[in-house]
Amino acid sequence: MMAAAKVGLGMTLTISPLTPLLGAEVSGLNVLDLSDAGFDSLYEALVDHSVIFLRDQPTLTEAEHYDLASRFGEVHVHPFAREAKPDPANQHPGVLRIRTTDESKVAAGNRWHSDVSCDARPPQASILQLHQVPQVGGDTLFSSMYAAYDALSVQMKHYLDGMTARHSGEESYRKLFRADIALGSQWPEADHPIVRRHPDSGRPALYVDREFTESINGLPKEEGKALLEFLFGHSERANFQCRFRWSTNAIAIWDNRCVLHHAMWDYWPQERRGHRVSVVGEVPLMWRLDSDRVPEGREGTTVKLTR
Ligand code: SIN
Repeated sequence: MMAAAKVGLGMTLTISPLTPLLGAEVSGLNVLDLSDAGFDSLYEALVDHSVIFLRDQPTLTEAEHYDLASRFGEVHVHPFAREAKPDPANQHPGVLRIRTTDESKVAAGNRWHSDVSCDARPPQASILQLHQVPQVGGDTLFSSMYAAYDALSVQMKHYLDGMTARHSGEESYRKLFRADIALGSQWPEADHPIVRRHPDSGRPALYVDREFTESINGLPKEEGKALLEFLFGHSERANFQCRFRWSTNAIAIWDNRCVLHHAMWDYWPQERRGHRVSVVGEVPLMWRLDSDRVPEGREGTTVKLTR
């Protein structure tokens, strides 16, 4: 169902959901002309739909992209820019250049993940604008971790209650940046709850991803590995997904606290490039079955899995 809201400066924002679970195209606004009320409506759309897409936006300069991200909170600086390659001349170290060419051996994000979940305060939101897109291919897929958690059995929810997992950037960043040098003195790693509570929606979301989650704390190694394999496969089920087909200068804004994403690398040797800026989030909050409740009206749609 479409929804519309007045957002100032003569703009009316229209929200068209892609699926009942997640994803919405938002039209009727220019991100460079967004009033405070307009920004609030945009953020509300993000909380409601977990990932939003804005087409036909102006090409943002690095400074404009950085300023847009700053409206969400403190800009996140990627560990690689932060520690391994600090460039004092770079005015906007938070701007990550995404580029895949016919010479690329790997493509950033070509595996299900939540951005930089190996940081102690991982990004809450990421904002990606693509300036060049392949003629066909290069879509980004998103998976709802609210829906993935909701669809687990009651027994599994109890088993996971209170558990934490270790997230590490080592394997991923060695491959992606071909960096055999350590990032500073060590690779980023952090322990996070396996089920986290979203501070704005109040909903529980599964928080593990194939790219960064390495082990489960407190479990024997093999048991933890088997459980993680199950959770990865479960969170990547098509039932929980939406898929965005890019157009030049479209912007995607996703909430890393409740979605995983996967950048599909099916367009080689074509080129795809753009900029991503992420926003620092809170230290992930643990969802507890005995004390946490989903606020009324925020329950979301339950997916019926074939058992
Ligand atoms: C990423 O942030 O993982 C990249 C997403 C994309 O390029 O579609």
